[in-house]
Amino acid sequence: MITILRLGHHGDGIAEGPVFVPRTLPDEVVTGEIVQGRMDAPRILTPSPLRIKAPCPHYRNCGGCALQHAQAKFVTDWKEGVIRQALAAQGLSAEFRTPHISDLHSRRRASFSGRRLKRGALVGFHARASDVITPVPDCLILHPDLTAALPLLEELTARFGARKTTLSLSLTRSDAGLDLAVSGGKLLDDALRAELGQWAGQAGLARLAWEGEVIAQTQPPFHQIARAQITPPSGGFLQATKPAEQALQIAVSTAVGNAAQIVDLFAGCGTFTLPLAERAEMHAVEGDADMLRALDAGWRQATGLKRITHEARDLFRRPLLPAELKRFEAAVIDPPRAGAEAQTVALAASTIPRIAAVSCNPATFARDAKILVAGGYRLEWVQMVDQFRFSPHVELAAQFTR
Ligand SMILES: C[S@@+](CC[C@H](N)C(=O)[O-])C[C@H]1O[C@@H](n2cnc3c(N)ncnc32)[C@H](O)[C@@H]1O
Repeated sequence: MITILRLGHHGDGIAEGPVFVPRTLPDEVVTGEIVQGRMDAPRILTPSPLRIKAPCPHYRNCGGCALQHAQAKFVTDWKEGVIRQALAAQGLSAEFRTPHISDLHSRRRASFSGRRLKRGALVGFHARASDVITPVPDCLILHPDLTAALPLLEELTARFGARKTTLSLSLTRSDAGLDLAVSGGKLLDDALRAELGQWAGQAGLARLAWEGEVIAQTQPPFHQIARAQITPPSGGFLQATKPAEQALQIAVSTAVGNAAQIVDLFAGCGTFTLPLAERAEMHAVEGDADMLRALDAGWRQATGLKRITHEARDLFRRPLLPAELKRFEAAVIDPPRAGAEAQTVALAASTIPRIAAVSCNPATFARDAKILVAGGYRLEWVQMVDQFRFSPHVELAAQFTR
């Protein structure tokens, strides 16, 4: 019999030991077999008053979500707590703004796994800690257009998948229809190309890519970002939900204030560059040249936006230096999970008065925040943005000033 003390960063309960117990909550008393520090099938003797019946019928088996058994407020507080703790570990604290919580059924991109069966195919998310695939026809987080496409993905997997390997099916809902990128499949040859192309047309996909090669594009799978229509490269980064994208855009816009010259670091296809270009001249810097081409093409066709220049650059190896940052009145920085240590060191030595930071990793965010604070910046506020409902992922926006 053990008592759960707190949740770890993957959302598992942790008891003394440590023993990791998935899908439990603080103060719950549980019993069960412990193997290598994990109790994977606990019996809950004393449930927490915060425990609820998981709203999704797939929760028992599906590994896509980890936190459906707790009241929503507990999950929000826990996610904010993850950020607070990461900051405290670096000797920092912050004011927290009202969090954004994305609606259910708003997830516009997801990666499914698909395996061909003797008859038909299995498509869904992996079961917990397993390579078994759980179908998710009633998933609570997916946008209805993604759910509606699951039979198509099954058809594709049954026709073009294999029984021994798993296809990875990355599906994005664009404003012009579905955009599918498949990997882990057979090697492409002319016959497969032709068959896939025909299938994509019949299925009504906007675009189909196989192992990075675009096989069919019936229409550009564009996304309306502010005044521009952007067609990202297949598999290119987009925020996971539209409501979170909007919340992050508002947070970033507030953080940069009325700066007239702004640099957007790790700009992607312009999620922040484009709305800010309504009032400021923008310089977008990003490692992926195809993403920048997409941003540039969208900007050129849009009307009413100020100038956007762009630069393909590896910001880990060649961060923008203080001399290059001098002309900007604000910076936006939204790095991948690894954070942006080198770029942050350069920002900390710059004279830029305002920085809007976006991060999907509180630990690297806090590490980089400490560098900025040591360089004379103040961390003004943080906002938790929950675009990965029921999962332990934590996204945030923040403002630094000097
Ligand atoms: C979290 S995404 C943010 C993109 C964009 N700000 C948005 O919200 O859509 C991080 C971006 O960093 C880019 N990236 C990753 N490593 C990089 C590097 N070393 N140098 C420059 N950009 C990089 C990725 O291509 C991706 O577009």
